[in-house]
Amino acid sequence: MTLAAVRSRVVLNPQLEIAGGRQLSGELTVSGAKNSALVLMATCLLSRDTVRLRNVPPLTDITGMGEMLSSLGAQVVRKGDVLELTGDRISSAAAPYELVNSLRASFFCIGPLLARMGMARVPLPGGCQIGTRPVVEHVKGLKALGAQVTIEHGVVNAVVPGRGHRLKGGRIHLDCPSVGATETLMMAAVLADGETVIDNAAQEPEVVDLAGLLIAMGARVRGAGTPTITIVGVERLHGADYAVIPDRIEAGTLLLAAAITRSNLRITPVIPEHLGAVITKLEEAGCVISHDGIGLTIEARQINAVDLRTQPFPGFPTDLQAPFMSLLATARGTSVITENIFENRLQHVAELQRMGAAIRMQGNTAFVEGVPRLSGAPVQGTDLRAAAAMVLAGLAADGITTVSGIEYLDRGYAFLEEKLNAVGALIRRVNAA
Ligand code: UD1
Repeated sequence: MTLAAVRSRVVLNPQLEIAGGRQLSGELTVSGAKNSALVLMATCLLSRDTVRLRNVPPLTDITGMGEMLSSLGAQVVRKGDVLELTGDRISSAAAPYELVNSLRASFFCIGPLLARMGMARVPLPGGCQIGTRPVVEHVKGLKALGAQVTIEHGVVNAVVPGRGHRLKGGRIHLDCPSVGATETLMMAAVLADGETVIDNAAQEPEVVDLAGLLIAMGARVRGAGTPTITIVGVERLHGADYAVIPDRIEAGTLLLAAAITRSNLRITPVIPEHLGAVITKLEEAGCVISHDGIGLTIEARQINAVDLRTQPFPGFPTDLQAPFMSLLATARGTSVITENIFENRLQHVAELQRMGAAIRMQGNTAFVEGVPRLSGAPVQGTDLRAAAAMVLAGLAADGITTVSGIEYLDRGYAFLEEKLNAVGALIRRVNAA
């Protein structure tokens, strides 16, 4: 094996070895929201001036998005948790397949590219571990704004016909409140001619964060965070300096780390409204949670079964379904968990069963009968949040749990093992033999 091959194997095959059964205590810091930062980065395609983002998490997905924007001609400069993005020399409207394929969020460059360049050529992102993930709503909305869109050979080709190649405001009704479609269409509409109304829009905090940045850049956006977003197009946008919101999914995962180890932790910064459904379910399960204006303190002892169904915001987030299932696998009683958003997002069930969890499946519903103790085992994180679920289960299990699929974890959690070790966990990163 060549040295390069050895290196790539070392890098590509990390595992986490977790010695379970330890209590945690202390304070944990939440990084900036991955899903927000990814979309905020794409706004640099809308302006010639610099967009300066603060609180950007150090994640491989962020690096991937930076590569995508660079490939289109943007300048991307990272200084610690600050990212400076300048789109004064956007030279291409064609996104490379490898980059869209490895980071599906990069598909939403199509909106700002069309708005700025009057054309975009972006490969279809395809499905991923958790489901097929269509982009029908994105395309339908772009057509409603006047783009001509064809899909050939796996590539979406979009052009704005007519003089000036400027999109036209229009009325869009999304058949489902897709987060990515809402964000794509907001970025397309901010430079369009006239007013755009997006009905049945996603209400997720990341959509509100995007509106916050667009408004800071001079856009006219109303209603983000409600089902109807109204945008009046402007001629140009300027640069801005903007801080990304804290990652609500990371915060939720850390709350669950406290709950599954029956520990007390303080987690900051947290915007509690972003985690309403999650806090309610944790309280229903028996945790005591308080907010002090900056962060949350959680105290966990006995955990009782609760039922949950994933839903668009403000419902329970699909991204915390797998981590919450790990907790409920250790609860007193039987919980019923229904996954309504992604059709293939229950792969962690089989892995939890390997650790002794008592789970029965029926369609998209899992009946989770809590057991007194999980037992450590080698397990696979099959996607980002499933990998987080395995880490949580490992924290609570007897003996050693070895979690593979850590490349997924590194896409969405900054320094997870370092953070957990700082409050008493025993997690070691090893390379698979
Ligand atoms: C975003 C998040 C992801 C989260 C998801 C749901 C990012 C980068 N990712 O993904 O972490 O799990 O929201 O909260 O922000 N759908 C359609 N047709 C479409 C588009 C979507 O049927 O054209 C369906 C999807 O199949 C899925 C549901 O809508 O069932 C939600 O998907 P969507 O909100 O688009 O998720 P993403 O934006 O891809």
